Amino acid sequence: MTSRISVSAPGKVILLGEHSVVFGRPAIALAINKRFNCSLAPASEYYLNGISLEPSRHPHIRHALKHYWEGGPLDIRLHSELPSGSGLGSSAALSVAFVGSLQAMSGNIIENKVAKAAFEMEYAAQGRASPVDTSVSTHGGGIIITREEGLNHLWTFEKAEKRWCVHDLQVPTMTLVVGYTGINGPTGPLLTKVKNYYDKSGFARETIDDMENITLEGQNALHKGDLEHLGRLMTRNHKMLSILGVSCNELNKLVNAAMPYSYGAKLTGAGGGGSMIALTDRPDEVCNAILRRGGTPYKVLTGVAGVKVE
Ligand code: MEV
Repeated sequence: MTSRISVSAPGKVILLGEHSVVFGRPAIALAINKRFNCSLAPASEYYLNGISLEPSRHPHIRHALKHYWEGGPLDIRLHSELPSGSGLGSSAALSVAFVGSLQAMSGNIIENKVAKAAFEMEYAAQGRASPVDTSVSTHGGGIIITREEGLNHLWTFEKAEKRWCVHDLQVPTMTLVVGYTGINGPTGPLLTKVKNYYDKSGFARETIDDMENITLEGQNALHKGDLEHLGRLMTRNHKMLSILGVSCNELNKLVNAAMPYSYGAKLTGAGGGGSMIALTDRPDEVCNAILRRGGTPYKVLTGVAGVKVE
C-alpha cells in the first residue's frame, strides 16, 4: 500500500438534457478544467482536512467507506476548484475523486468501476440521480447518454426501471463561458420538484419528450460542427427547463445578458441558482455582460482528462 496518494476528477457542464436524463432520456456533457482533488494516507483514525471525520455529516464519504473500502483508517484531504451547488458537478467530482483514490490506494483505477460506485454514491446522497455527472467526471472529454448502446459505448447502468447507455463523444473545439450566479442550487429538492410535476402533468411529460428530441438534434449538430444550430437548441432547452420550474431570475438574467454575443445560452446542471453556460465566439463580451449582471464568469476549457492520479 502506498503512503499518500492524490487523485483528481473534473467538474462538468451539461450541453443538453439535464433533468430529462433523470427520466432515462439522452444528455450530452463535457468535462471542464476545474477539478476536485482528494488525497489519502493511512492514519491512526479517520480525519477529514485535519479534523476528526464525522461520517454523518458527509454522506458521500460515509457511503464510499462502507461499500468500497476494506482497509484501515485514512487521513482524507479534499480540495475543490468547483464551488459547491454551482451546477458544475462538484459533488460528482468529489465522489469520483474519492472513490478513485480508494481504488488507487489498493491497486489501479478502473474507470467503469469508479463511474458505477460514484453513481451509487450520488444516488444514495440525493435519493435520485442519473449517471451523467459522475460518468463525465470519470471519463473526461465528452459523453453522450442514450437509451440504446451505440458506437463508442463505455458502460450501461440501470436503476429504478431506467437504463442509461454512456458513450464517449468527440466534440469540435468550441468556446464556452460559464456564468455562476453565486446561489447554491439544491439538486435533491429540484429533482423532487420535477418528478412531482412530471407525475401529475401531461404538459411536463411532453416537455421531457421534447427535450429528448432536442438533445438528439444537438448530437447531429455537434457531429456536423454546426455551432449556430447547437446554440439555438441550447436556448430552446433553457426555455423547457424554465417550464419545468428549475430556472430562476438570476439564471434568466445571465442567460439574457449573454445572448447578444452567443450562439445560445442555457442553465447548466440542476438549476435553481448554480450556473449557466453560453456557447460563443465572443467570450470577452460574454464575460463582461455576465459581470455587469452580477454573475461570476469563467471561460472554461473542455477536452480535459477524467479521473487520474496526480
Ligand atoms: C445535475 O448536474 C444534472 C441533473 O440532470 C441531475 C442528474 O442527472 O443526476 C439535474
